[in-house]
Amino acid sequence: MSDLNHQLEQLHQEAAVALERATTTSETESWYHDYLGRKGKMTAILRGLGQLSAEERPLVGKRANQIKVELEAALQARQAAIAQEEMQRALSAEGIDVTMPGRRPLVGKLHPTNQAIREIVDILVQMGFQVFDSPEVETDDYNFGLLNFPPDHPAREMQDTFFATTPGLVLRTHTSSGQIHAMRKYAPEPIRVILPGKCFRNEDVTARAEMMFYQVEGLAIGRNITFSDLKGTLLNFANQMYGDGRQIRFRKSYFPFTEPSVEVDVDCVLCGGDGCRLCKYTGWLEILGAGMVHPVVLKNGGYDPAVFSGFAFGMGIERQAMNKRGVDDIRLFYSNDVRFLARA
Ligand code: PHE
Repeated sequence: MSDLNHQLEQLHQEAAVALERATTTSETESWYHDYLGRKGKMTAILRGLGQLSAEERPLVGKRANQIKVELEAALQARQAAIAQEEMQRALSAEGIDVTMPGRRPLVGKLHPTNQAIREIVDILVQMGFQVFDSPEVETDDYNFGLLNFPPDHPAREMQDTFFATTPGLVLRTHTSSGQIHAMRKYAPEPIRVILPGKCFRNEDVTARAEMMFYQVEGLAIGRNITFSDLKGTLLNFANQMYGDGRQIRFRKSYFPFTEPSVEVDVDCVLCGGDGCRLCKYTGWLEILGAGMVHPVVLKNGGYDPAVFSGFAFGMGIERQAMNKRGVDDIRLFYSNDVRFLARA
C-alpha cells in the first residue's frame, strides 16, 4: 500500500491522542483547525489522493473518509464531555451545594402584649366574664366625672391626661371609663364584664411608665355582691395567672370610683416571698387596683345603690407580663427590639 495510506493511519492515531489531551472547548477548536479544518493535516492528505493510481485511489479515499467520520464523532463526544466538566467546575466555583439543607425561615409570633391580653382574657372569660368594648377617645365625663372625680378634686391629678383638641374629649387614662358604658347598656340587669384595651397618660417615660399601655377592667354588679366575691375572683385569677398555691394580699388604697379601695399584690413568682431583685426585696408583686363600686358610680350607671352592689378591678397588662416573665423595663414592650420580642 502506498505511503499515503501509512500517513493516514499515523495521522489517525496522532489526532486521536491529541483530542484526548484537549481539556477545554477552545483546545478542541484548535484541534479541529489542526486536523480537520480547511488547512488541516487531514485535508492536506486528501489533496494528495489525486496522485494515486486508479486502483489505490478509491481504497485510500474510502479509508480516509472513515477516519474523518470517526474523528468528527470523537470530537463531538469530547466536546460534550468538556462542556459537562466545565459546567461542574463553574457550579462548584459558585459554591452552590444543592444537597445542603435550606435555611430555616423566621417565624413570627404574637406580640408579648397580645399574648398577655389573650392569657388574661381567657382566664376571666372562663370564670364567666364577657368582653365589652369601649372607646379609646372618651368624654371627660366618662373618664372622670361619672366615675366620681369632682371637677377640681386633686384626684384628677393622679392621672396626667392627653386632651383632644375638641373640648371635653380625652384619650382615656384608664379602662374604668368603660364602666359607665357597660352599666348604661345593661342596667338594671346584673353584669359581669371585662374591658381590655389601650390607655394613655401624659407621663415621663421610665422603666415603670409608658405613655401608652394596656389595661383590663373587670366589673361585676348584682344584688348580693360582696367584698368576698372580689377576693375570691382575684385569688382565682392569681392562681391561674401565676401558678397554683399563690397568695394575695390587699393594701388599703383610694380611687374615687370605689369604696373601699384596695391595691392587690401577689407573692413574688420568682422568690416565693423570700425577697429578691424582681420584688425589690418586699416578697410581693403589685398586680392591680380594685374595690367595691362607689354608690355614686352605681347611680350614674343606672343601678339603685340600695338594691345593687358590685366590685371592679383594673390591671395593667404589661405589668402582669413583666411580673410573670421577670421583665424589669416596660419600655421594652414598645421599642421593637427583636431580641425581646423573640424571647417573650
Ligand atoms: N382605674 C384604676 C387605675 O387605672 C384601677 C382600678 C380599676 C381601681 C377599677 C379600682 C377599680 O389605676
